[in-house]
Amino acid sequence: MTKEDLLYEGKAKKIYRTEDENLVYIHYKDDASAFNGVKRAQISNKGILNNEITRVIFEKLSQAGVENHFIRVIDERTQLCQKVDIIPLEFIVRNLIAGSMAKRLQIKEGTKPKNTIFEICLKNDDLGDPLINDHHAVAMGICTYDELDLMYKETAKINRVLSDMFLKDNIILVDFKIEFGKNNIGVIILADEISPDTCRLWDKDTLEKLDKDRFRRDLGNIEEAYIEILERIK
Ligand code: TMP
Repeated sequence: MTKEDLLYEGKAKKIYRTEDENLVYIHYKDDASAFNGVKRAQISNKGILNNEITRVIFEKLSQAGVENHFIRVIDERTQLCQKVDIIPLEFIVRNLIAGSMAKRLQIKEGTKPKNTIFEICLKNDDLGDPLINDHHAVAMGICTYDELDLMYKETAKINRVLSDMFLKDNIILVDFKIEFGKNNIGVIILADEISPDTCRLWDKDTLEKLDKDRFRRDLGNIEEAYIEILERIK
């Protein structure tokens, strides 16, 4: 992987081309950012940990029939994936109220809602990834209602599989964010990463936060929390 092969650099990952135009290498960095890039730092070994945590989770999802871009791990920071055109939406699921929803609606963190909450946000850093609804997404030409339907159904299935998986390891999947993309034959599949950067994960007994909120909220022991998640789910 050389600089010439770099296709895209995001806040936490770099994407490199491969000899096959339908495949990419995804390299996980130690860079952490929060609050739309306002807060930045390096978290030692985060890239290594998230590469491995995402591998475990995506393999679990494949076994459960959730098609996704992951193919195999190449080295401790790199994985080989299908190349996709990312659909510029973030699908968020909330099993417990926390984070932006707790703040926006003034609801106590940890409150269990009557139903599972699904949100979509527009992936646009300049606008701060605003919360939008289905009609906005269709009106902006991002996807069709049928495609939204497919992605919501897949998101609900992912929530069921991952909630069960984490619960077996005494972890509550409080909320998470996922992204989808279209592969070379136009099929919508799960892409990006699923890690403590993109999930809220609480110890079931102590409710200790084992995710990126340790960075966002200056709670310390960030690397230790990510190691704890990997050791439990492995
Ligand atoms: P929120 O409470 O800040 O809206 O976040 C909900 C979930 O989505 C949480 O698990 C963190 C994750 N998330 C991301 O992975 N990337 C983002 O850009 C945002 C805003 C949230």
